[in-house]
Amino acid sequence: MSRFSYLIFLCLLALVHGNFPDDPKPCKYGDTKCIVSIINRLIIEKSETGDSDINIVKFEPFPVDKLSIRKGANSPININLELTNNYIYGLSTTRIKSVRGFGKDLTKKHELRMFSPILSMVGPYSINGKVLILPITGKGESNFTYANTETRMSFKGQIIERDGEIYMKLVDFVANSVPERVYFNFTNLFNGDKALGDNMNAFLNENWEPIYLEARPEIKAGLQKRFQDIIENVFSKIPYDKLFVE
Ligand SMILES: *[C@@H]1O[C@H](CO)[C@@H](O)[C@H](O)[C@H]1NC(C)=O
Ligand SMILES: *[C@@H]1O[C@H](CO)[C@@H](O)[C@H](O)[C@H]1NC(C)=O
Repeated sequence: MSRFSYLIFLCLLALVHGNFPDDPKPCKYGDTKCIVSIINRLIIEKSETGDSDINIVKFEPFPVDKLSIRKGANSPININLELTNNYIYGLSTTRIKSVRGFGKDLTKKHELRMFSPILSMVGPYSINGKVLILPITGKGESNFTYANTETRMSFKGQIIERDGEIYMKLVDFVANSVPERVYFNFTNLFNGDKALGDNMNAFLNENWEPIYLEARPEIKAGLQKRFQDIIENVFSKIPYDKLFVE
């Protein structure tokens, strides 16, 4: 075969098989070891580029347009914090540790456990209020870094039929992240008063745990749906039975 006709042959082959690319090879249903390594390979290879064939968006860095934390006077962090056009850096370093589910019956529970050595949400912030009775105010760039974070995501599948194919929709999606430590860094606190700003950053980092625990529900609410979307995109593009083999 000439090179050209070989190329045409390859293209036709790709069209016939379509769907999930042959490399990496699809896993068997419920072959959790294979599924772990295939997802890790996708994270390593696709995080900085995305891949429209399997509907993965670029997620290194991962944009977070808006995240607000507003707490009333009854909270130890009585603040109004707005993050706009931030990015999360480090998702490409996340590795899947184990999975459950992904068998033939897609309506069963599926679970992913993963570990991220470092995740930083970085970008413009504005804050005012009181943190553990100390007044805080500022507008600038912030960096919240989670070190050594264990995350567990779980969901159930729901069957969606489209054009004679079966797709999986994610329902009851829950994601829980537990960082070993959280670091805060706000630049330009108190109109750029360096001494006050350094003191406040030091204070926030000394008290990182109660502050983080108090802010966690809002952070979770702000991010969970976006992570669900990354996963759901793949399942909404490729029929479930084309993702796995018998
Ligand atoms: C955010 O802070 C972490 C830890 O303090 C640091 O490693 C990282 O480089 C910072 N990221 C940016 C974009 O400044
Ligand atoms: C906070 O961020 C600023 C600007 O990126 C950097 O110069 C400073 O070293 C950081 N402070 C800490 C404690 O990481």
